[in-house]
Amino acid sequence: MLYRRVAGTKDILPEEVCFWQKIEEASRRIFSLYNYLEIRAPLIEEEPLFNRSLGPSSEIVQKQMFLMKNKDETYVLRPEGTASIVRAYVENHLDKALGFAKFYYLGPMFRLERPQKGRLRQFHHIGCEAIGSYDPDVDVEIISLAGNLLKGFSISGYVIKLNSLGCARDKKELSSILHKGLKDKLSKLCEDCQKRFKANALRILDCKNETCQEVVRELDIKDSYLCPDCLKHFNQVKEGLDSLKIKYTVAPYLVRGLDYYTRTVFEITHKDLGAQDALGAGGRYDNLVKELGGPDVGAMGFAFGVERLLLVQGACLVGRQARCEVQGKSLTYLISLGQEAEREGIKILENLRKNGIACDTDYESKSLKGAMRRANDLNARFVLILGEDELKKNVVTVKDMTSGEQKEVTQQELLKEL
Ligand code: HAM
Repeated sequence: MLYRRVAGTKDILPEEVCFWQKIEEASRRIFSLYNYLEIRAPLIEEEPLFNRSLGPSSEIVQKQMFLMKNKDETYVLRPEGTASIVRAYVENHLDKALGFAKFYYLGPMFRLERPQKGRLRQFHHIGCEAIGSYDPDVDVEIISLAGNLLKGFSISGYVIKLNSLGCARDKKELSSILHKGLKDKLSKLCEDCQKRFKANALRILDCKNETCQEVVRELDIKDSYLCPDCLKHFNQVKEGLDSLKIKYTVAPYLVRGLDYYTRTVFEITHKDLGAQDALGAGGRYDNLVKELGGPDVGAMGFAFGVERLLLVQGACLVGRQARCEVQGKSLTYLISLGQEAEREGIKILENLRKNGIACDTDYESKSLKGAMRRANDLNARFVLILGEDELKKNVVTVKDMTSGEQKEVTQQELLKEL
């Protein structure tokens, strides 16, 4: 084999595409129920956009950006959607055109990670961003929307983890609590957390290392760093979720790895995913729009990883012989026997397609038997046979593959018959 796909990328083969289409269709339907508009941003952006938005010490900026150098500029294959959508909102003055605006997007993202189950270098997000409001009901709507999307994908058994990071000042306060509490315990922390202590102490809360988690839990931080306004906001979000009977778990150590988050953050995990257990995640980013040159407005969003949704659905497993249900369901299959019939057959196919009937033929078939086998494999609804006899009589033999019935019809009657 001469060429292989790049590690951490996937070919989505036709037999799998129908599962993607179902997820995409359900997403579009449910997003429009909430009045979200689709937005499509470029896959490449200028590098500083992500440095500024995600933070220079974030894992993505530190290690995972696909960079493309071109003369004096460096472009990046987008690692996530939020920064791009906010850039688009600001650059296109959508605050003036739309005011409070709700967007959704579907598409590939790129991160230079070590590939493993559920962790790819090219993966896909289904996400949304609601820009222009600080109202806690927006947080409630978004978390409810995430739950309804999962319902639309027939996924259950997930857990919604919820926390509040507070405003920028609260995040500083949390960071200083961590600095004070951990400065004498640094030797107990893993190497990465010792670095995080200097660069961004909040990330220590997110460390998967058990000893680091124990050391942090001993500090018993809870929500002590939240100012009264942020505490009120957090309580309103929880009340809103309770009123909709949405189940969630408060996770005091959930911080998320991106700098732009403020106040509400949430993550949706699923036990079937293993080590990479987040199906999706999101939160508020009340300072980002202003930081990227836009108005001073609040915003919130989230994104699901499509490959992980499919893993949970069980449809993405390597070697699975999944068949697209839709394929061939209403297909009409023409078998032309002989050169003259083939020439006539092309015209019949053209006419059927013009009239909205999906049809196909086997250009390579040498025998009626082989062609019938192919029609069966494709699960064709009708088979049309055009041989010398049929040509002479100006008819086509139509076989109904469900009932097995077979009859001759004239070419003029064919459309009506199908
Ligand atoms: P994120 O947590 O980095 O958030 O990504 C969201 C989801 O994308 C994850 O929960 C996971 O399901 C999936 N994902 C992330 N990295 C990979 C990967 N390497 N391979 C496969 N799936 C992956 C964001 O990107 C934020 N922009 C979400 C957001 C929107 N926050 C506010 N608005």
